Amino acid sequence: MTFSVWLLVCFCGLTLGQNVFTQTDVATETGSCFPDMCKFLKEFGAMKAKLEAVETNLKEKSEVLELKKKDATIIAFSAATGGSGHIGPFDTDTTLIYRKLIINVGNAYNQHTGIFSAPVPGIYYFTYFYHAGGSQVVNLSLMKNNEEVVTTYDHKTSHDVADNGGNAALLQLQQGDQVYVQLVENTHIWGGSHGTTFSGYLLHQV
Ligand SMILES: *[C@@H]1O[C@H](CO)[C@@H](O)[C@H](O)[C@H]1NC(C)=O
Repeated sequence: MTFSVWLLVCFCGLTLGQNVFTQTDVATETGSCFPDMCKFLKEFGAMKAKLEAVETNLKEKSEVLELKKKDATIIAFSAATGGSGHIGPFDTDTTLIYRKLIINVGNAYNQHTGIFSAPVPGIYYFTYFYHAGGSQVVNLSLMKNNEEVVTTYDHKTSHDVADNGGNAALLQLQQGDQVYVQLVENTHIWGGSHGTTFSGYLLHQV
């Protein structure tokens, strides 16, 4: 930009030079060449300052636009397990697959694997709820990559036949971090389209 301002000044200077020539011819008659030249130089100085101000202004505007674009990124999903009946118990820890999508804006959640992959770095909020019978232990963990973040647990009972529980966490994720719910070995939940769900959304990009 500075370079182009100088180009502009040089170019105008050339034109000005020509003008000055013709004016010099006139000037020999009027005797007022140098004050005009000073005036032009001053005006060019002012013009340069103005262009620099415009340049700063444009830069600030594009920074604001960039921030607004960041705020406009929407990542949000909700899904239920679907099906109807017990899921588990299995003899190994198993990623719970929530196959029935409620919404999946931004497609960061995969309903075939049960895994959410962060598309952008940011603070994300996740919740999960379950319904289960009392005949087995329930132990569900919210996982970030291979780490357990929060869990929800229910004992095996014979008198309390219906359990409902859940948990939630805010997580700071890097691009590509994976979040999913793990059904711990030898535990179960009840699958359905409404009771056992997993949701998450991007709260803010960082
Ligand atoms: C639930 O499972 C996790 C992961 O295996 C384990 O660390 C935790 O102790 C279990 N919770 C209970 C209450 O057994």
